[in-house]
Amino acid sequence: MSRVLTGIQSSGKPHLGNLLGAILPAIELADAQAEPAFLFIADLHALTTIRDPAVLRENTYAVAATWLAAGLNPKRHVFFRQSDVPEVCELAWYLGCLTPYPMLANAHSFKEKSANLAEVSAGLFTYPVLMAADILLYQTELVPVGKDQKQHLEITRDIAGAFNRIYGELFTLPEPIFREEVMVLPGIDGRKMSKSYGNTLDPLGDLNELYKRVKRIVTDSTPIDQPKNPDTCTVFKLYSVVAPPAAVEEMRQRYLAGGYGYGQAKEALYEALRERFAPQREAYQQWISDKEALEAILRGGAERARSEAQKTLQKVREALGLRSAVASGFRV
Ligand code: ADP
Ligand code: TRP
Repeated sequence: MSRVLTGIQSSGKPHLGNLLGAILPAIELADAQAEPAFLFIADLHALTTIRDPAVLRENTYAVAATWLAAGLNPKRHVFFRQSDVPEVCELAWYLGCLTPYPMLANAHSFKEKSANLAEVSAGLFTYPVLMAADILLYQTELVPVGKDQKQHLEITRDIAGAFNRIYGELFTLPEPIFREEVMVLPGIDGRKMSKSYGNTLDPLGDLNELYKRVKRIVTDSTPIDQPKNPDTCTVFKLYSVVAPPAAVEEMRQRYLAGGYGYGQAKEALYEALRERFAPQREAYQQWISDKEALEAILRGGAERARSEAQKTLQKVREALGLRSAVASGFRV
């Protein structure tokens, strides 16, 4: 019976880790609530990394098509593009004025990202404030996110708490829901699967490409006839999250017994990915080839989101002293 909200940046096409680690669990949590969830594509956040308009637009469609292919029902839930609700930028300014500078300067996500960049933008610095605005604008109660977002949720709660103390209880304090059960999936090079490492698998994309990338997964050089350790092997780890439990157990035994090569395990992984995501792959291809349908859905979602956003903003402006209750047509 709670309001769920989450966002995914359109900084690239979603991969297996995003699907299993974020999109599918978010849809499950959203569907389990009686009221509609707010699910959005964080394209304003993606501007902190993407400077090519065509790429940003393509990514936004790819993220939208992935959510829909993964089973998001846009009639029930409010599915929208962050930038279609400009109210969020206004709220971000107000919240920024309540955010202590050191809280942002010490955020580890900022420190990590800025350490790897030649130029650090103010947008990257205030990223958590915009995220707080995303969440507070809709009086969100539950936010399903990965562990990497823990600190951003703490910042959101701190800002909301500061606002409520100064101006009166206006914002709901959101609770993060961390997905403990989903492990961080490794990419084809064994590091965390991430858009920024170029080591992803895309189970909804072209099958030839998927096959080639599965074949490139890095393994050790244990000879075929010798026993292998499934728990340190990237191929096995990925297989264990996509194949049925009995098949996973069977592969584990094959690893331990020896006489089973990584090449065979990769074939099995490819087949499991192909099968498990077959309906979603087909749905993805249909959505991505119908941009007008995607636009219509996102616009419909934005309208619903904006009417909610405007209600909150009206209260916020009044609380801040920006607009008199009388002048804005409100009865005191
Ligand atoms: P990326 O690292 O590819 O840029 P994001 O940071 O945009 O991915 O991830 C969005 C969400 O997807 C994260 O909050 C996290 O929950 C989930 N996620 C990303 N990578 C993985 C992974 N390798 N395994 C499991 N979940 C992941
Ligand atoms: N920062 C989140 C990520 O990189 C994306 C995001 C933006 C988000 N706004 C949000 C997630 C609001 C949850 C709620 O994964």
